[in-house]
Amino acid sequence: MDIKKLINAAKEASARSYSPYSKYKVGAALLTKDGNIYTGTNIENASFPAGMCAERVALFEAIKNGDDQFEALAIYAEGDNFPFPCGICRQVISEFTRDLNIIIARSENDYVIKNISELLPDTFEFSI
Ligand code: THU
Repeated sequence: MDIKKLINAAKEASARSYSPYSKYKVGAALLTKDGNIYTGTNIENASFPAGMCAERVALFEAIKNGDDQFEALAIYAEGDNFPFPCGICRQVISEFTRDLNIIIARSENDYVIKNISELLPDTFEFSI
């Protein structure tokens, strides 16, 4: 797996962010086991809760295409902090896989890698 390539795909997606309110441009690139890359960016709204995170845009696009076996996810946003996925995105990722390495990058060369099981242990699962 080419980490730099995936980070770059996330960086390119972040350039298409619609974030006039926070000015925080996030990009996500999800590599599937079939070798496809689905990208997403954050899309904000004047009604703030209507906005959407970059990770979920990428993930839902993959699911929509029936491509649901994931290899890795890169998240890219420039700033003082690493762009760790929010709690809602962690929960959504956990719905589809409990073993996904997530590359969290604040520049092309400055990143950390965490597994979803570390970021969200003991995930909520619904059963009746
Ligand atoms: N954001 C993401 O795209 N992903 C996250 O995991 C956390 C937050 C976006 C949402 C909003 O557009 C901006 O970052 C500031 O919260």
